[in-house]
Amino acid sequence: MKLLFLGDVMGRAGRKAVGEKLKGLREAWGLDFVVVNGENASNGMGLSGEHAKALLEAGVDCLTLGDHAFDQKDMLSFIGSEPRIVRPVNFAKGAPGIGAKVFQDTRGRKVLVAQVLGQVFMKRAYEDPFGQIDAVLKKHILGGAVQAAIVDVHCEATSEKMAMGQFCDGRASLVVGTHTHVPTADAQILPNGTAYLTDAGMCGDYLSVIGMEKAEPMRRFVTGMNKGRFTPATGEATLSGIYVETDDKTGKALKLRMVRVGGRLEEAMP
Ligand SMILES: [Fe+2]
Ligand SMILES: [Fe+2]
Repeated sequence: MKLLFLGDVMGRAGRKAVGEKLKGLREAWGLDFVVVNGENASNGMGLSGEHAKALLEAGVDCLTLGDHAFDQKDMLSFIGSEPRIVRPVNFAKGAPGIGAKVFQDTRGRKVLVAQVLGQVFMKRAYEDPFGQIDAVLKKHILGGAVQAAIVDVHCEATSEKMAMGQFCDGRASLVVGTHTHVPTADAQILPNGTAYLTDAGMCGDYLSVIGMEKAEPMRRFVTGMNKGRFTPATGEATLSGIYVETDDKTGKALKLRMVRVGGRLEEAMP
C-alpha cells in the first residue's frame, strides 16, 4: 500500500498548499491512503469544521489533531459528525471523538490510524501514552485484521517519540511524530519493519517561527515582552511529511521517502 503522511497544516498557507497540490500527488504517486495532521489549520489554532471539510475534499482520507484538537470550539460537536477525524487517544477522559479508527482504502484494505500525545514538556499531564497505544495495537493486529497501521505521536520531546517508535516496531507500518513543526532527517525502517520519522514537519511557511509570523515570537524571545498575537505566516507553504510503501500481507514498511513539496524546503521526490 502506498501511504502519505503530512505534518501539521499551518493556517491559510498550509491549507492552500494542500488544496493546490495533494490531488496531483495522489495521482502522480498512486497514493492509496493519505493522513494529514490538521491541528493548526484554522488560524494556527485548532481545526474548524469548515476547514476540516475543505481538507477532506482536497484529498485527505483521515485528519489527525493534537493538543490543539478543540481550540476551535465547533470541533467539539463537529468531530461527532465526521468519522474521518482522529483525536489523541489520551486527550482527556470524556473528550468527544475517538483516538483510533480503522479505515478502508479504495480497494477495501484496512488501515488503522491512531494518535497519541506524549508527556514530556507538554502543557498537561496526559495519560500514559505507551499503555494507551499498546492497547490499540493489541486490538488491531498488523498483518491480521489490518493491512496497515499508522501511529501519529504528537509530542515535544524527540526522545519520547523515538521510544514510541521502538515500542511499536513490528506492530505498526509507520510511527511518525508531529507537533514540533520542524522536519527531522532520521526517516528509517526499524528492525521489525516499522517506518519511523521523529517529526513530519509542518505544512506551512518555513520563513517563520514554527509557522507563525516571525515578528511577535521574535519580540517575545528578544525582549521578553508580549505585544501582539501570534498569526500564521503567509508565504508559500512546503508540504512536509513521509511517503511509505508497505507489504499488503504483513503491513510492514518496504520503502520510504521524506517528502517536501513546494515552498522553501522543496526537495525532488521520489
Ligand atoms: Fe501540537
Ligand atoms: Fe502543531
